Amino acid sequence: MKITWIGHSSVLIKGSVNIAIDPFIQQNPAAALRLEEIPKVDVVAITHDHEDHFSDAFPLAKRDNATVVAMHEIAVKAAEQGLTAEGMNIGGTINVRGAEFTMVLAVHSSYSGHPAGYIITLDGKRIYHAGDTGLTRDMEIIGELYTPDLSFLPIGSRYTMDIVQAAKAVEYIKTKRVIPIHYNTWPPIEADPDEFKRLVGKRADVIILKPGESYEL
Ligand code: NI
Ligand code: MN
Repeated sequence: MKITWIGHSSVLIKGSVNIAIDPFIQQNPAAALRLEEIPKVDVVAITHDHEDHFSDAFPLAKRDNATVVAMHEIAVKAAEQGLTAEGMNIGGTINVRGAEFTMVLAVHSSYSGHPAGYIITLDGKRIYHAGDTGLTRDMEIIGELYTPDLSFLPIGSRYTMDIVQAAKAVEYIKTKRVIPIHYNTWPPIEADPDEFKRLVGKRADVIILKPGESYEL
C-alpha cells in the first residue's frame, strides 16, 4: 500500500481501501497538496476536532461520500451534516468498508469528546496514527497487542510529545517503522527529525518524508 504524508498530521493511505486521516489541507501552510489533488477516499478518520486535524475532514467526506470514523461526539456532528458516520470510543474496533479501526488513547484535549489515536489494520498491515498526544505508558499496550508495522508519531513539542518522548514511545509501541509528524508546520513546533532518528537508533526504521512524499509499505 502507498502511504502519503500530506503534511502536519494529515496522512493518506491507499490500499484496498483509501483512507484519509486528519485532513488539514486548505489552511495548512505545510500542505504539499491542494484539496482538489487528494484522490477519492473511502474513509475519513479523525483523531480529534482541533482545527489542525479537522478543518477539511467534513468537506472531504462530503466530496467523496466517504464514511467518517470518529469519536462518538464528532460522529454525531458529522451525521447532523448529512454525512455517513461511524462513531466509536477508546477500546473499540470497527470494520469500515474492509478496513479495521481500533481507537486508542491519546493524552491531549479537544472540543468534542476525548482525543484518540487509531490502530488501522488494512491489507495485512498494522498502522498506528497517534493523533496529538503526550507520552504515556499506556502506549505499552499498543506494543504488547499490536506491534505496528508503521507508526505516525508527533514530535513537535508544545502541543504533543517532543523528540525525546517520541523516541521513548517508539520503545513502548514496538513499532517496526515510524514516520514523524506534527512538526515544522509553524515555528512553535519546530523539531529536527534527523535528531529524532538518532535518538530512536536501531529500535525502528525512521522514515523522514517531506510533505507530499510517499512510502510504499
Ligand atoms: Ni490537537
Ligand atoms: Mn494538533
